[in-house]
Amino acid sequence: MKAFIVDRYGKKELMRLGDTPRPQLLDDDVLIEVHAAGVNLLDSKIKSGEFKLILPYRMPLVLGHDVAGVVVQVGSRVRQFKAGDQVYARAPDHRIGTFAEFIAVNENDVAPKPMNITMEEAASIPLVGLTAWQALIEKAHLVKGQKVFIQAGSGGVGTFAIQLAKHVGATVATTTSGANTELVKSLGADVIIDYRKDDFEKVLQNYDVVLHSQNAAALEKSLRVLKSGGTLISISGPPDPAFAKGIGAPWFVRLIARLLSAGVRRKAARRDLRYSFLFMRSNGQQLREITRLIEAGVIRPVMDRVFPFESANEALAYVETGRAKGKVVVKIKRD
Ligand SMILES: NC(=O)c1ccc[n+]([C@@H]2O[C@H](COP(=O)([O-])OP(=O)(O)OC[C@H]3O[C@@H](n4cnc5c(N)ncnc54)[C@H](OP(=O)(O)O)[C@@H]3O)[C@@H](O)[C@H]2O)c1
Repeated sequence: MKAFIVDRYGKKELMRLGDTPRPQLLDDDVLIEVHAAGVNLLDSKIKSGEFKLILPYRMPLVLGHDVAGVVVQVGSRVRQFKAGDQVYARAPDHRIGTFAEFIAVNENDVAPKPMNITMEEAASIPLVGLTAWQALIEKAHLVKGQKVFIQAGSGGVGTFAIQLAKHVGATVATTTSGANTELVKSLGADVIIDYRKDDFEKVLQNYDVVLHSQNAAALEKSLRVLKSGGTLISISGPPDPAFAKGIGAPWFVRLIARLLSAGVRRKAARRDLRYSFLFMRSNGQQLREITRLIEAGVIRPVMDRVFPFESANEALAYVETGRAKGKVVVKIKRD
């Protein structure tokens, strides 16, 4: 099959369009013909080698975590899907590779594609949708009436998280640059801060939850906008010991996570806050909940650009600029 292959780690390395064997179908897997693949910063971070310690891959490697497509074959133990089903998924760590014509995914990581959106739109959802779900619902237990601050509301995670938090009934504050104000407003954001002009720390007080996705300075400030008993969830580091333990990391990685997060954990404890690092996971059950919300019209995909298959490197480079409004997708199967 045709795929975009990475031969070695490196920030500047380009993916090479080449031929590679179809992935092996295990008993619990469905083989998906990829129609569209979502692009995430995680693809870029894996390619650069930044994640080598916690997420090592053997080369050559096919990148790509998000897929929307059609089931073409099922393993002997598969019960939830059959050939011809339209599905979407976040391919699990260590078995990624959606920048290709086919991918095999365990059926428990797959969900039916929402019927009211296109393949390209569906491919934009899994990784960011599950991230928002796991941060706000699973970890923070966000409920009606609470106040949540979602950083970078115009990004992939932010556009989904704002809509999910509004659905729950929370008041949502977000940061974005002036040009994206209308976008985040249309998604339901109540308080919008232009981070190029204003300092969120001076505007926000007594928040219940912060979804942090930016740099260390924003992490430090986030501690100060939370009220006592509040929750700070970071998806951009530093990793904490609970995360390292959860992925079964070796002792030295656990030690590094302990050291890297010592400062923020200490400061959080002093203010009676909970700090937690999230590294999202594939989850077909949660993705089914997301399908329901999309089909009910509660959440809509926010798309920036769709690139043709041949332009997967350009798609990745565009995401790396950090300026995407919503999601970037590569269309793999021609109509
Ligand atoms: N741990 C996990 O499981 C996990 C999962 C998903 C993502 N992440 C991480 O979370 C981060 C966000 O991911 P993403 O996919 O949402 O990124 P993204 O879509 O690439 O984010 C782009 C958006 O960020 C906005 N932005 C840039 N700098 C900003 C700032 N200082 N303040 C507020 N907004 C800013 C930009 O808006 P303007 O153009 O208006 O500046 C743009 O719309 C990344 O570091 C990613 O790797 C982690």
